[in-house]
Amino acid sequence: MSRPKITIVGAGNVGATAAHWAAARELGDIVLLDIIEGVPQGKALDLYEAAPVEGFDCRITGSNDYDDTKDSDIVVITAGIARKPGMSRDDLILTNAGIVGSVTDEIVSRSPNCILIVVSNPLDVMVTKAHMQCNFPRERIMGMAGVLDSARFRAFISMELNVSVEDISATVLGGHGDSMVPLPRYSTVSGIPITALMKPERIEELVQRTRDGGAEIVNYLKTGSAFYAPGAAIVQMIESILKDKKRILPCAVLLQGEYGHDGIFMGVPVKLGAGGVEEVLELELAAEEKSAFDESANQVRELIKSLS
Ligand code: NAI
Ligand code: 2OP
Repeated sequence: MSRPKITIVGAGNVGATAAHWAAARELGDIVLLDIIEGVPQGKALDLYEAAPVEGFDCRITGSNDYDDTKDSDIVVITAGIARKPGMSRDDLILTNAGIVGSVTDEIVSRSPNCILIVVSNPLDVMVTKAHMQCNFPRERIMGMAGVLDSARFRAFISMELNVSVEDISATVLGGHGDSMVPLPRYSTVSGIPITALMKPERIEELVQRTRDGGAEIVNYLKTGSAFYAPGAAIVQMIESILKDKKRILPCAVLLQGEYGHDGIFMGVPVKLGAGGVEEVLELELAAEEKSAFDESANQVRELIKSLS
């Protein structure tokens, strides 16, 4: 029996970190692919040379050739550029849409049955673009953002209450941006909603810090964005699929009437198992939660317009 095959396109900070976590958890053989010659090869070899120390068994290949990705079970797309001075958000969208579109074509021609996880930003637009290219059933294409955003919320709750992160679960819905919708009512410490443990004003501060979580890291790093938590979030999704764990995780998936929306990728809780997105869970939302979700969907729709 062979190991599952995981391809990660984009061997930058996020891609290489995801490869690291995935290898350490022995989730499968890994192909790290990038457009820059030498970088994926160097990082893959370096990571493999850690295997004897850490004691993980899997093959790690670095490549610039899509033929090496053939018959992958899971493909993660992290390829793209970050916004540079003088570039508008639309410029970034068009450049990254070009990259994500061509990467998707190359991938699906060699791995037509893979499960695709899109990570490149702006996430909601890029997963839409990848879907336009491949038209995969919604079970096999999703975006990573909600696991990261809810991990940030969990981290902030843990710091605030001085309790183990293990006992905290948090739910963040919507798009991956300023309009994301953290849900305190559905965020708990050992089953106790945080609304019973913190003052509303303090909860609102943690909610805002979660919305600004990506920018907080960029402000520290200055030359790049977060990669440890994003890498770990990607690998949690991969693990749930490859081990058929059926974890309930927030992912950007194509809504087909759920939450009152159709034909748009939005972050919602889903069951992730061997079949990919096996179920979309519909939470009961209060009026203000529903209007925040709708507003987030409107913002995503506006961004998607710039694809054309
Ligand atoms: P990075 O700049 O370190 O890596 C990007 C890599 O993509 C580079 O190695 C680059 O050579 C490669 N690349 C560019 N064009 C390519 C192409 N046509 N084919 C193959 N590879 C190509 O950036 P980083 O930090 O790894 O972030 C990657 C992407 O993920 C960015 O768009 C970032 O905004 C996004 N991101 C999304 C998150 C989410 O929650 N969805 C979280 C963190 C990052
Ligand atoms: C983040 O949230 C940049 O989307 C990335 O850190």
